[in-house]
Amino acid sequence: MKPSVVRAIYFSPTGTARSGAAAIAKALDENAEEIDVTVDGKMPDRISFAKDELIVFGAPVYGGRLYHGVVKRFQQFTGHKTPCIVTVTYGNRDYDDALLELKDLAEALGFVPVAAAALIGQHTYGQIQVGRPNEQDIEEDQAFAEKVKALLNQDTWSGIQVPGNYPYKEGGQGGKFRPQTTDACIKCGVCVRECPEGAIDPEDPAKIDGEKCIACFRCIKKCPIGAKNPDTPEYLAFAEGFTKRLAARKENQYFLLEGKA
Ligand SMILES: Cc1cc2nc3c(=O)[nH]c(=O)nc-3n(C[C@H](O)[C@H](O)[C@H](O)COP(=O)(O)O)c2cc1C
Ligand code: SF4
Ligand code: SF4
Repeated sequence: MKPSVVRAIYFSPTGTARSGAAAIAKALDENAEEIDVTVDGKMPDRISFAKDELIVFGAPVYGGRLYHGVVKRFQQFTGHKTPCIVTVTYGNRDYDDALLELKDLAEALGFVPVAAAALIGQHTYGQIQVGRPNEQDIEEDQAFAEKVKALLNQDTWSGIQVPGNYPYKEGGQGGKFRPQTTDACIKCGVCVRECPEGAIDPEDPAKIDGEKCIACFRCIKKCPIGAKNPDTPEYLAFAEGFTKRLAARKENQYFLLEGKA
């Protein structure tokens, strides 16, 4: 089967989960479309998908699980036996039960997971696997997509197995660090619009609602003049130790029907 349309659907505050999902989608079809559900409340054009389409889901791992806001966002989509590839991107610690959770979620929504991947992305915190996914990672994603293409030509492609346990471990929450805003802020409103959870005060972008903020650090990445940073003493101390602890490089893992690719 050649899918009529390939779409990457992702939640990706700092862009790494998007990179993997979009690279896989594009390798499957150079005209692949993207549906970005990072910012809450933006309704996508399409929410229901047919059997001849193909979806590549992408999400970051938060505490070994899917961020609960990802589950909420993905739940607006429905498949009708629509094949999908499930991908999670994690910061070189572990993905624990997140890939299993995404596979289960996709199935519950009417999709048929035909392949899966646990990909490495630069960690939101510290300096861990900086720049990943890099060129080599993207090439691996593309090679995986070629294998999926061959698989789609087979008659049956349900039943992939991915690592993870039941019950899923505790996790899926945001982090505890809160971005700082310097006097350089020009109140351009970029961070206000880009915050996934609407946590930044439009009148005063230095004010962040601590309850709503999930410490995804998207605002730090998106600020055009570098007026936001994570640099509290608590964060800096954590980041230093964390960077050392997670220094050893991990590899991307890909799963097809036969087992690990
Ligand atoms: C709140 C929070 C929790 C995280 N938990 C994990 C984790 O359990 N394991 C891990 O390896 N990386 C973890 N990370 C790192 C992200 O999974 C990683 O940086 C990912 O590439 C971010 O995706 P994005 O660029 O699409 O936002 C966490 C990041 C945040 C912000
Ligand atoms: S993106 Fe930067 S400059 Fe613009 S409002 Fe936010 S903190 Fe201020
Ligand atoms: S305010 Fe918090 S939730 Fe919003 S973009 Fe910044 S870190 Fe993410």
